[in-house]
Amino acid sequence: MGKTFLVCLVILLASASTILGRELLAQPTCPPPGFSSAKSFDLMSYISAPWYVQKQVTTTYTPENFLYCVRANYIQIAGPGDLSKGVYVNNYSNKDRVNGLAATTSKAQGGFQLYATVPDDAVPSQLQVGPYLGDNGVTTAVSSASAKMSGEAANYWVVATDSSSADPKFEGYEWAIITTGPPTIPSGNGCRTGSADGGIADVAQRGFWWFTRKQVATAETLEALRAKSLELGLDLGVLQDVQQAGCDYSGAP
Ligand SMILES: *[C@@H]1O[C@H](CO)[C@@H](O)[C@H](O)[C@H]1NC(C)=O
Repeated sequence: MGKTFLVCLVILLASASTILGRELLAQPTCPPPGFSSAKSFDLMSYISAPWYVQKQVTTTYTPENFLYCVRANYIQIAGPGDLSKGVYVNNYSNKDRVNGLAATTSKAQGGFQLYATVPDDAVPSQLQVGPYLGDNGVTTAVSSASAKMSGEAANYWVVATDSSSADPKFEGYEWAIITTGPPTIPSGNGCRTGSADGGIADVAQRGFWWFTRKQVATAETLEALRAKSLELGLDLGVLQDVQQAGCDYSGAP
C-alpha cells in the first residue's frame, strides 16, 4: 500500500480519462450545435450560372457509376428575375464515363422534371427539391408543402459559400456546400446526413455536395471546401470524386 498504490491509481485514472476523452471526441453531437444554412444568402446570384459538382455522397439518384460530369442548372419557372414559382432543377450526369450516356432531370430532354422552392422567404438558403407536377398556379410555399407531405421533397440547404452577399465587395459565389438539411447521424468521424435506418427516408435525406462555378476546381478551392466542411462537423468520408475534366456540356440543360 501507500506510494505504489497511489502511483498505480494515478496512472489508472489518467489512462481512463484519456480513453474517455477519445470516446467523447469520436462521438460528436449530431447535428453539430448551431448547424444551419448560410446567412445573408443571395439566391438570385446563386442560381445565375450552372454549378459543377466536385465531390458528393452517392444517392439512389446518383449511384457510383454516374459520378461523371455532374452539373446542376437552375432556371426560374416564372421567367428571368422572378422566383415566385420556384426554379427548375436541371441535374445532369453521365453514365460509366466522361461524356457517356447522359441522364438529366430536364423534362425538355425526356427527364423527370425537378424543381426547387423556398418555403420561407426569410431563409433563402433553405430550399426544397421535389418533382415538378406542372404549373398549377399555387404559391411556391403551398406547392412545396404538398410535395413535402407526399414525402417526395428533400431539403436542399446551402450551408456555406465562399463569400457573403452582405459583403460590400460581393461579386457572386465561387463555391458552395449543400446538404439535405442538418446531418443527424454520428459516424465516429463527424456527422452524416440521411436516415439512420436506411430505408426510403434515407433516399430523400442523404445528400452532401461540393459545388464550384469552375468545371474543374483548383486545388485551392477544394482545400477551402474541405476546411469548411470539417469546420461544420461534416463527415468527409462519405464523399466521392466526380470526374469533370474533359466533360462536354454543350448538350446539357
Ligand atoms: C439533383 O441535384 C440536387 C442537388 O444539386 C439534389 O438535391 C437532387 O436530389 C438531385 N436529384 C436528382 C434526381 O438527381
